Amino acid sequence: MLSECQGSTLMVTQITHPSKISHERVWKKLKMASSLFLVSLFFSFHNNKTLGKLKMSAGNLLNEVCVYLGQVIDYITYAYNTFLSIIFLRVFKQQPFQVHLPTKTFHPAVLVTGTSSGIGRNTALTLAIRGYTVFATIRREEDAKELQETFKQFENPKGGSLHTLIMDVTKKDDISNAHMAVRSHVGREIPFIGLINNASFVKYLPLEVASEDAYAESFNTNFFGIVNVTKKFLPLLRENRGRVINIGSIASWEGSPFMGVYASTKAAVRALTRIWRMETRSTGVHFSLIEPGIISTRLSDQIIENYRSFTSFPSNSRYYAIPHSITSNVIKSYENMYKMVGKWSESFIINAAPPDIVTDAIVHALTAPFPKNTYYVGLDARFLATLNWLLGDRISEAVQVKALTLQ
Ligand SMILES: NC(=O)c1ccc[n+]([C@@H]2O[C@H](COP(=O)([O-])OP(=O)(O)OC[C@H]3O[C@@H](n4cnc5c(N)ncnc54)[C@H](OP(=O)(O)O)[C@@H]3O)[C@@H](O)[C@H]2O)c1
Repeated sequence: MLSECQGSTLMVTQITHPSKISHERVWKKLKMASSLFLVSLFFSFHNNKTLGKLKMSAGNLLNEVCVYLGQVIDYITYAYNTFLSIIFLRVFKQQPFQVHLPTKTFHPAVLVTGTSSGIGRNTALTLAIRGYTVFATIRREEDAKELQETFKQFENPKGGSLHTLIMDVTKKDDISNAHMAVRSHVGREIPFIGLINNASFVKYLPLEVASEDAYAESFNTNFFGIVNVTKKFLPLLRENRGRVINIGSIASWEGSPFMGVYASTKAAVRALTRIWRMETRSTGVHFSLIEPGIISTRLSDQIIENYRSFTSFPSNSRYYAIPHSITSNVIKSYENMYKMVGKWSESFIINAAPPDIVTDAIVHALTAPFPKNTYYVGLDARFLATLNWLLGDRISEAVQVKALTLQ
């Protein structure tokens, strides 16, 4: 099912869903946020009454500084990547990648999966506002209508469009129908140039008590969903030397206890992206992997909610299959550990970065003449990736174990 929506000309700034980050704003914001942060710190030492309030605003400012600092680091890495790419392309005598930038009269097409909320929604709206023909796949009709209504409220100077397609990435018929709808819409005038595999299923639970359903649903959505959607759309992408952008997670490198099922799907996505990129290089199709840290979305809200409301593992959930051989002591220790992880991770999740920073990386992967192979998004993701690279997994595991008093 295909529904279409052409954006109207209201102000973009009133609604915060699409990415607001632009290159010019980064330095300005960074400078402003750091000065405000220093001023509030100064006042907090001189005025006890406003201490609490200022502490809060200092915290918010610190978050803002982190976001924009992350952006500055991103731009430095983009420049370094471009420099390296130019050298490598020369040495290995390879063709540069094709760039298809939208204009007022040219609206290349992209497909984004899982656009009802979070990163997918932000990306679909941002790309449509930037002039792309966006096919936003979504599971429910009401979410599709809501997304189109939202898009209508934005200024749309380049005349981009947003078409919603009902698609569950685990259903091959849905994928075929979506492919047919896209195929009939694109062509020489509207080349299909990008696939963004974003949809994901997330459950945090101990590996030993996770049911087959939990493993199957996670891999069917996060891994086989990407395999099947990509296989279907790859011929269209090949026609235009397009790009595939897979949304992974830093959890593939540095997972915490109970993230095992999810993290292993994302580790599989990392391997898949790397190999597929090499296999399609000669056809001009490029694969990028985006590995964000913690991002503030419905997913992170649900994780906090699950931790907060947790008392014990439910016996009536299809995602749990507690083997009879496990003693109640072992279950109890898993449950205590779960509470500890919840307490520990809540402060990180509450201060998570906005989805805009992921959208920004996606836009780079889609439009840069030299897209990066892997994007670590957010300061936490960069820090964890660097830690893993420098020290290996032994130290970070030891720190986590100590922090969770598991030993
Ligand atoms: N948020 C984070 O901290 C974080 C960190 C690292 C990586 N990521 C990755 O970022 C991506 C987006 O996550 P998010 O944070 O934006 O989460 P989100 O707000 O929960 O969005 C997930 C999207 O995936 C869709 N989806 C789930 N199962 C699907 C299926 N079988 N078929 C089609 N769509 C399906 C959901 O649709 P429904 O509304 O129909 O369920 C929703 O639109 C995911 O790949 C996630 O693993 C997120």
